[in-house]
Amino acid sequence: MSTSVYIETHGCQMNVADTERATDRLRAAGYELLDTHLGADVVLFNTCSIREKAAQKVLTRIGEVRHEPGGAGQLIGVLGCVAQLEGAAIFDQSATVGLVAGTRATDRLPELIEQARAGAQALDLGERGELDDWNVSSTVRHSKHVAFVPIIEGCNKFCSYCIVPYSRGRERSRPAEEILREVRRLLCEGYTEVHLIGQNVNSYRPRSTKGLEDFPGATPFSRLLRALAATGMPRIKFTTSFPRDFHEDIVKALEEHENLCNWVHLPVQSGSDRILRLMRRGHTAENYLERVRTIKGSPRRIALTSDIIVGFPGETDADFEATMRLVEACQYDGLYIFKYSERPGTPSAAMADDVPKELKTERFLALERLQRRMQETVYASYVGREVYVLAEGESARNCTDLTGHSTCHKVVNFRGDKGLVGNILKVRITEAKTNSLYGVMV
Ligand code: 5AD
Ligand code: SF4
Repeated sequence: MSTSVYIETHGCQMNVADTERATDRLRAAGYELLDTHLGADVVLFNTCSIREKAAQKVLTRIGEVRHEPGGAGQLIGVLGCVAQLEGAAIFDQSATVGLVAGTRATDRLPELIEQARAGAQALDLGERGELDDWNVSSTVRHSKHVAFVPIIEGCNKFCSYCIVPYSRGRERSRPAEEILREVRRLLCEGYTEVHLIGQNVNSYRPRSTKGLEDFPGATPFSRLLRALAATGMPRIKFTTSFPRDFHEDIVKALEEHENLCNWVHLPVQSGSDRILRLMRRGHTAENYLERVRTIKGSPRRIALTSDIIVGFPGETDADFEATMRLVEACQYDGLYIFKYSERPGTPSAAMADDVPKELKTERFLALERLQRRMQETVYASYVGREVYVLAEGESARNCTDLTGHSTCHKVVNFRGDKGLVGNILKVRITEAKTNSLYGVMV
């Protein structure tokens, strides 16, 4: 009988993509992949360490799984960012863990599991191999309609608060040819949407630009966008963009090709130049606003979303006020707000985490209130307009409704039969809520 494996995924889309590739590799090696931990011989946790809370989650989950029926006999493994950062220390923290594999070890998982099942502690924090699975198309996907396609991994920016350069290593871009091949294959398989993913997609810089010869552009990323648009994939989204590397040619490419979706996720983190400097972001509030004006000035009507950290070391009321003013100026379509969380080993961990917990919460709530007010106006402006929605499934609330995302990445619900799932439909918006839109098919 074959060994059964379950992988539980935490964290970002890159982890989802890594899990898809690990699943692919394990299946090819003869493992049976389950969609529950119950009854699995091996349970792997693909972990996230972006904030303390996320990093702690894995130990809680291991304890929970352990105490369920059959849990005591399972081989437990830790993958991903926590594994990369903690390494062998995880074996000491939790005696039940038999396997630790970092963010670039997914292609070696079959051998690692074998090793651990034979009774040895299996540890791999190495780089990706020559024939690494990250570079090939996965046959396993989290959705039948939307596929994540990694184009760049790792990060060289070293923002002072961020663990990612340590957990995912240096920036590496996938060869354009591989990405094009994967997207063409997805098209043949019937996918309607791809999300190009990477910690900083617009820093894309492959060693060779083979495959992009026929496509102009100011940067390799905008050339890649044009090349991908030419494949005919109906919808192409990309996330996350880094402000310093955001070239206006990206906006031009979006204006030229309708299948490049009108949504940009461009995290700003703070509106205070003093804090941005301490964060080592390499941009000022004004630099950022220039890019926002380029994006918002486009006739394409590009949706803009962002991330903000409140309570960075030394953040004063005046710094926070500057963030509030910037958020007001940007009129974001969506905003993810985080309370600063000290990550061991990062430069800002050497600064005192001196904004009291209560003040972080207060700022978090104030920003959330402001964003809700702004977002209501933004969402209300969609009423009466027509948007294209990829029907992704039945609405959780109402079985006569379908739900999906618009090209501008908004959740749209509308009346429709489930036979329409997988199609792109034109929907006229009739009602706006704070975080979703409602409409009718036209
Ligand atoms: N504390 C709080 N939030 C963080 N982020 C990254 N590192 C930290 C940290 N140490 C946030 C940033 C980033 C998002 C993915 O997570 O806003 O854009
Ligand atoms: Fe979490 Fe960042 Fe790792 Fe993604 S890359 S799993 S967000 S720590």
